[in-house]
Amino acid sequence: MLENLDIECMIKDVNINEDKTGINLTWNDGHEAPCGYEWLHKHGFTKEAKKENERLHHYREELWGHEYEAEIVKLNYDDIMSDDSALLKLLVTLDSKGLVIINKAPQKVGTLVEIGNRIAFLKPTLWGETFQVFSKAAPSDLAYTPCKLGLHTDGPFTYHSPGIQFLHCIKNTTVGGRNELSDGFLAAKILKEKYPELYEILLKRPIQYQNIGKDDNHDIYNLTRKLVFELDPNGKLENINFSHQTRDSYMDLEIEEVQKMYTAIKKFNDILYSRENLIHVQLQSGDIVAFNNTRVLHGREEYQHGPGLERHLEGGYVEWDQARSKIRILKKYVDFDKPN
Ligand SMILES: [Fe+2]
Repeated sequence: MLENLDIECMIKDVNINEDKTGINLTWNDGHEAPCGYEWLHKHGFTKEAKKENERLHHYREELWGHEYEAEIVKLNYDDIMSDDSALLKLLVTLDSKGLVIINKAPQKVGTLVEIGNRIAFLKPTLWGETFQVFSKAAPSDLAYTPCKLGLHTDGPFTYHSPGIQFLHCIKNTTVGGRNELSDGFLAAKILKEKYPELYEILLKRPIQYQNIGKDDNHDIYNLTRKLVFELDPNGKLENINFSHQTRDSYMDLEIEEVQKMYTAIKKFNDILYSRENLIHVQLQSGDIVAFNNTRVLHGREEYQHGPGLERHLEGGYVEWDQARSKIRILKKYVDFDKPN
């Protein structure tokens, strides 16, 4: 127990163990502790040990721009559901690139629940286990219209935004409505390098986000104050919270900060939309686009809507805690570094 810990206790004697796989430590309070070389290597305060440990937290982050449009990793739905290597590739690519397309999924509601259960489970929200995106006669959200949707992350109006988002195209007979995607980590890097004072305000001053209204049968009143750029304990960019559609008109700022905040969010938006960075994806029925919602911003072009022109997407979320747990489990018995 921690209350019994003596931090003054020092090593009195060190001996190599009999089978030469490690050492035996004798402490000056008399207790002994065997330590294997593998354990010692893993727990050393060395660059190698730190690098090895980092691999357990993240795979490898690869930033991308417009060129990734022609290179997006595409996986087959049946493979993901039946083959652990394909599932691992999906999750590892979401961790490194943050964007994957899954082809040939069943064109029916509930398919994302199957994928969620294959990983762990879907994250429920106030909209349920999944949400349906199509044009409604009395829309309660811009997503339920055929209008353009600006690049955003989902759920900045909640204190724990969704980690991975899946958007499943169940039916698409419309014209237009291409999905737009941009790597927010790349855009943040560019903003930091070219406009450090604008990066700083998005790093240090919060934006108030809200989502207030009614969805089908219940009322919703979500409200947060969040930074656009959230860092991890090592100072590395970890989460992006950005949605002009759900940004509150109230600004929790000093009056002299307001213009600078507008300048910063507009500049960040311009970088995201720049020709070098933006990706377009035209989803066909049976396609699923999956992306890291804490990094990759998504939007949609407007589309035509009317008789014979239908667009129905189902969306769902999986938390990174569950996805990274699955990655670590699968890595134990799938050779994830094998080129394929
Ligand atoms: Fe969205």
